[in-house]
Amino acid sequence: MALPEEFLQELRARSDITEVASQYVSLKRRGRNMVGLCPFHGEKTPSFNIYTETNSFYCFGCGAGGDVITFVMRIENLDYIEAVRLLAQRAGMSMPSENYDDSLAKLKRRIYEANRETARFFFRTLYSPIGRSGLEYLRSRGLSDKTIRHFGLGFAPDSRFDLSNHLRQKGFTDEELVAANLAYKNKNGRGTNDRFYNRVMFPIIDVRGNVIAFGGRIMTDEKPKYLNTSDTLVFNKSQNLFSLNNAKKTTDRTLILCEGYMDVIAVNQAGFENAVATLGTSLTSEQAVLMKRFADEVIICYDADEAGQKATRRAISILRKAGLEVRVLVVPDGKDPDEFIRKNGDNGGAAFYSLINASTNDIEYKLNKLKRNYDLSLPDQRVRFLNEASGVLAELEKPLEQETYASRLSEELGVSRESIMQEVTRLKRSRARGEKKKEFSRLAGSLAGRDDRLTPHRREELRASRAEENLLSVLINYPEEYSYISSHITADSFVTDFNRRLYRYFASKLDNGSQVLNTVSGDFSQAEINRIFSIANISRGISPSAEAIDEYIRVLSEEKDKLSAEQIANASTQTLSDYISKLKSKRE
Ligand code: GTP
Ligand code: MN
Repeated sequence: MALPEEFLQELRARSDITEVASQYVSLKRRGRNMVGLCPFHGEKTPSFNIYTETNSFYCFGCGAGGDVITFVMRIENLDYIEAVRLLAQRAGMSMPSENYDDSLAKLKRRIYEANRETARFFFRTLYSPIGRSGLEYLRSRGLSDKTIRHFGLGFAPDSRFDLSNHLRQKGFTDEELVAANLAYKNKNGRGTNDRFYNRVMFPIIDVRGNVIAFGGRIMTDEKPKYLNTSDTLVFNKSQNLFSLNNAKKTTDRTLILCEGYMDVIAVNQAGFENAVATLGTSLTSEQAVLMKRFADEVIICYDADEAGQKATRRAISILRKAGLEVRVLVVPDGKDPDEFIRKNGDNGGAAFYSLINASTNDIEYKLNKLKRNYDLSLPDQRVRFLNEASGVLAELEKPLEQETYASRLSEELGVSRESIMQEVTRLKRSRARGEKKKEFSRLAGSLAGRDDRLTPHRREELRASRAEENLLSVLINYPEEYSYISSHITADSFVTDFNRRLYRYFASKLDNGSQVLNTVSGDFSQAEINRIFSIANISRGISPSAEAIDEYIRVLSEEKDKLSAEQIANASTQTLSDYISKLKSKRE
């Protein structure tokens, strides 16, 4: 990527990460820095840090880190050039006219355009004679023209070529159609076959208004009932939600989470714009974090069947982890929301509204579910229920919440509130211990370099790795130390490959008088960027003493000379004795 250094430097200087990030995360000042709930993983206590001095971020929970460009790439799901372009627009800078490589960004733009043209094509077809069966189907499911238009629903004709031909005529190449997953190369390698045919079509639109994918429903009982776009450069089914482009306008920061496309559409038609659905998979933590950007509360509105209730329990925990309040709406008579609203005819909206009002929070929902398993008139069943119920209360963070439910249970069951709270506190403590243990072993594991793909030998080379990382961190935070460091070591002094590569990269920047981190967001992979910003933390705000730097340099030279166990096993006696005397001379 050849964006000019000066351009990037100015762009980064003009793009304050605190300002940019606060559009997505609510941030609190802590000393010189800002902290908040990490937008990249679900969490309830803030471990997402913004370092105003270096205009960078790092999350101690999930290890995500980077500069302002990385932040925009990750939160908006953009590639490097797209993120740069977005920030440049924001800063009122024009993109340099250099020949930077933006082929990937170009292909993504073409996919968006192909998708948009396809949505138009499907919509037009729906209202043409060819689309009659589709239009009849949608109407038979109670959808008005207004709703159809609002969601841009359409029809894919019963032909394997119509869409491909149409798009080719509009100037799209076969490669672009395949990359958009609108068609696939047919067997003899000539031409393409349409992916969607003879289905009613639901465009999936992201929060920025791009058509990113489609879902298509067959109009008979054949399988698969729904066919979706597979993941493409612009679409990841576990990171998007159907109709979030509409629902994000919610003014009361509440979303209704449904199971399917038709539920969302029916709920919308009944007057509630804030419904979303996952895209044929179960809820992911990424989707929960995405919802948290627009909402503080989610009302789960899944099917009333066993599968739906199981999915509800799972969703409760994922949503809570993302810091969302959760309510559960139960649709009566085992129906899904779409069927319920339809059954109530003109009264559908009001009937659904009363379900929203009757929805309980997740704790009440769980307690009610539990209660059904026991006959509370029998003392021993009452005890068993209370034990399980205490387990539910122990999951709560806030003591006030716990007390409230403990009081309710106490009144209901004639047991003292204190004894319930005692059990809750005991369970909570033992859980906290378990969590701590897990957290500790996770941390110990990552420090010891287990599962470390970037530096696979970190564990065997722990001493060297630490010295390397310390030196790299000094170069990031205190570049003025570079001339001293570089007069004592070279890239060849490094033991582990990734750190050596980083040193070379930093050194080439510093040799040119550039900022060390200026271009990392374009030159490294996401995992590598995370690591770089984690290394940056080692010496942040702790200016290194000359002795410390000398010590790192000494460790590196020792470790570099060290023979590996394998080399020792295969070494001749002469080599070994030379080696030992060399080590001895170093000691002195
Ligand atoms: P209708 O029958 O049209 O009312 O759909 P539904 O939403 O009631 O169906 P269901 O509860 O079976 O499915 C819920 C959601 O799961 C759908 O909206 C789809 O997103 C997804 N889904 C259902 N069937 C399939 C399938 O065969 N393939 C895929 N990929 N997704 C499916
Ligand atoms: Mn349905």
